[in-house]
Amino acid sequence: MFFPTPDLTTLLGPLELKNPVITASGTFGYGLEYEPLVNLKALGAIVVKGLSLKPISGNPPPRIVETACGMLNAIGLANIGLEAFLKDKLPRLREIDTRVIANIYGHHIEEYGELAKALKGVEGVHALEVNVSCPNVERGGMAFGIDPVIAARVTETVVRNTDKPVIVKLSPNVTDITLVAKAVEGAGADIISLINTITGMAVDIESRTPKLGNIFGGLSGPAIKPVALRMVYQVARAVKIPLIGMGGIMDYRDALEFLIVGAQAVEIGTANFVKPGASQSVVEGLSKYCVDHGVKRIGEIVGSLK
Ligand SMILES: Cc1cc2nc3c(=O)[nH]c(=O)nc-3n(C[C@H](O)[C@H](O)[C@H](O)COP(=O)(O)O)c2cc1C
Repeated sequence: MFFPTPDLTTLLGPLELKNPVITASGTFGYGLEYEPLVNLKALGAIVVKGLSLKPISGNPPPRIVETACGMLNAIGLANIGLEAFLKDKLPRLREIDTRVIANIYGHHIEEYGELAKALKGVEGVHALEVNVSCPNVERGGMAFGIDPVIAARVTETVVRNTDKPVIVKLSPNVTDITLVAKAVEGAGADIISLINTITGMAVDIESRTPKLGNIFGGLSGPAIKPVALRMVYQVARAVKIPLIGMGGIMDYRDALEFLIVGAQAVEIGTANFVKPGASQSVVEGLSKYCVDHGVKRIGEIVGSLK
């Protein structure tokens, strides 16, 4: 019997992907670490670990704690810095037939602008994902993404300084995520990705101390999927630009839920720690689902919630 191959091509505004499956920042290193375990060219895109202008060593340990149906992390955005990324990682990443998305974050709004400028015209970086969930030094550590006005200023600064598609990644730690989504859309974002981790903590009952060196951390994994789905659903109705959904996606079924509520693509995060090949399995699972359900183009599923 003849089964036509479904068309998984995904158009996110100015960014075209061969399929809608992307690895999430901070859970897939700089991509290359996973090369022995995953066929990287099978993926729609790879988002690299959040980059700052200078290298950062991050928070004191312990930085990771397992929780019921998920994990808490307080890595503190440790990374090798932009210069080392461009010199040591990007040349090899360029040889892989997939899209590479640079996740960036700054301590000040100007740092976002400087990162965008430094990546302008850089071959092999196909889009920027702007992390607004990190602490704003000028605002006493309150995250940029909590305030629609500040999130819009960050977006506008990046858009002004880049020639690449701009994805703004939203924080779920807000009362009404649609307000931030509309603000960043108005400021020129091409795409919105959501959600980042949800702030939480865990306590050791013997020592009666926080389990994380930083006290608070970001909750991720299956525990946050219902919250993430609800937020993608809300944002899909509030903005016109394309969405990338994430939060607790462990397999293709989870990914489909996000597509059905209105995300054009998905990112796979914590699942990479459980099964390094999770992202590739999601691509294969989506393809099989399309064949089994007579779906010719993956886009037919997007926003198909009844
Ligand atoms: C260990 C770890 C490190 C992360 N680092 C970043 C980061 O550097 N930048 C960022 O935007 N998100 C970061 N995230 C958030 C993920 O990209 C993702 O938004 C979140 O974990 C929800 O998806 P998941 O439940 O599939 O993991 C990190 C998450 C984890 C677990």
